Amino acid sequence: MPLGTLDETTSTLIHSPAGPDPEWWRTAVIYQIYPRSFADANGDGIGDLPGITARLHHLTELGVDAIWLSPFYTSPQHDAGYDVADYRQVDPRFGTLADADALIARAHELGLRVIVDLVPNHTSDEHEWFQAALTAAPGSAERNRYIFRDGRGETGQEPPTNWESVFGGRAWTRITEPDGTPGQWYLHLFDSHQPDLNWENEEVRAEFDDVLRFWLDRGVDGFRVDVAHGLIKDQEFPDWGGHTTMVGGQDDDSVDAGDRPQAPMWDQPGVHEVYRRWHRVLADYEGDRALVAEAWTETPEALARYVRPDEMHQAFNFDFLCTPWDAAELRASITEGLTTSDAVGAPTTWVMSNHDVVRASSRLGLAETGKGPNGIGAEETQPDAALGLRRASAAALLMLALPGSAYLYQGEELGLPEHTELPDELRQDPAFFRTRGEEKGRDGCRVPLPWEAGADGFGFSPTGATWLPQPQEWVAFARDAQQGRPGSTLELYRTALRLRKDLDLGAGSLAWVDGLPGAAGDSVLAFQNGTVLVLVNLGEQEVPLPQGAQVLLSSAELSEAADGGALLSPDVTVWVQLPQA
Ligand code: NOJ
Repeated sequence: MPLGTLDETTSTLIHSPAGPDPEWWRTAVIYQIYPRSFADANGDGIGDLPGITARLHHLTELGVDAIWLSPFYTSPQHDAGYDVADYRQVDPRFGTLADADALIARAHELGLRVIVDLVPNHTSDEHEWFQAALTAAPGSAERNRYIFRDGRGETGQEPPTNWESVFGGRAWTRITEPDGTPGQWYLHLFDSHQPDLNWENEEVRAEFDDVLRFWLDRGVDGFRVDVAHGLIKDQEFPDWGGHTTMVGGQDDDSVDAGDRPQAPMWDQPGVHEVYRRWHRVLADYEGDRALVAEAWTETPEALARYVRPDEMHQAFNFDFLCTPWDAAELRASITEGLTTSDAVGAPTTWVMSNHDVVRASSRLGLAETGKGPNGIGAEETQPDAALGLRRASAAALLMLALPGSAYLYQGEELGLPEHTELPDELRQDPAFFRTRGEEKGRDGCRVPLPWEAGADGFGFSPTGATWLPQPQEWVAFARDAQQGRPGSTLELYRTALRLRKDLDLGAGSLAWVDGLPGAAGDSVLAFQNGTVLVLVNLGEQEVPLPQGAQVLLSSAELSEAADGGALLSPDVTVWVQLPQA
């Protein structure tokens, strides 16, 4: 074949193509909208549903298949809407139920599916159930919807267990009983304004069946399930020596993840019963409605349990997100992700960024390129912005060439960096306050999007107001500054999404390719998906492309070798068309 040099390679098939006509969620590229920061229509500086509806056509132009909306429900916003006070109502900051209906209708008109967020682990403390629990007696039906316990110690002055909140501090808060005496404690794995529900209680389960139906009846195509690994707690409520991170494990790297003791608040076997039940609720509806798990598990095998055929449909592959920029580690993570999900017949769901982690184009410019810190402050070591963006573009072409589904976080298609210099007094993430500033928190990845380089607030809002300030450098990242500009990140994403669709890469296969001539050893990740060869240079040397390579797309310009051939520079990904067999 013309790419004669490929004859010397060996290839290892890891994943075979999907069958004919796969359900949409097996291959979809899904764009996460963080409503308060996407687009503001009413000028108050906080994004809203009408703002989203008005800009949805940009996402069809981008070429995504679906959107996922982070919570827009009634909420006092102690955790940016992940503290829901009414699951069936839209918060006035974001609009009305009619606005939600209009958004769903417009999305469908544009051919975009709509996934909404479901927050079942906890409610807001302003939810009517929690308010009723506070005024009811210990042991009452009202308290039994949450996890209330007597305290330890002579007067119940000590919390029932030593569990910590994910956001820092204790996971229990003591209430004052209606008669004014110090009372019981309630569990909150997150902020004290987010009491955990008691999923042992059938009333809670029935309520959420109904919430699912409420939104399914309004036409949504699926749900992203918040903290899916947290609903069921070990009913013994044992003390727990580990630090309560979202992964739940102990931060002890000397013990293999799978061998660490199971945290009593995470990934308990009972959660799966809940998802089997929801699977049946969704199956009653027409169209392929889908559930996607936000489950931070210790191992890929544990994650795959959430997407068995009678449970959820997708689960974010956070292992991929957390993997350092290293060829061997990425190869191992991708292989594990594909083989463990294949074993249960589910797609792998790739993700690089979301509203909880430092944006990929900053994270990959840090010395440590793994999961990264929880936020970055002005006084801390700053990421190498150019390197981070170059790697993030390379990582995007890697991710979008992989078979399965992929999630993009708003602004990722602009190469938007983290805001790393937010003044502390503007921070809003409860993690910043609960850790007393030790963790900067997630505000830096949640800054309102830049739409127009020349407008106040970069066109986010008609008044120029933005709930968090945008860095001045974002002028170069504004959507209109990138639109139609060859070489821009936005155009790279658009082309990648178009080719991914044309070449059916989402439904494709993956075979690792070894032994490419000249490939600088182990530092090039090389795989074939159908007729496309993907090369990612994670090393420090330029690498020659196979002779005669027909380049489809590259994340940065290729350079020219002395013999006239093309060279793949460090931190660049290229898609090459192989001749049809
Ligand atoms: C995960 C969400 O993505 C995050 O933003 C939130 O703070 C926690 N769950 C608690 O709901």
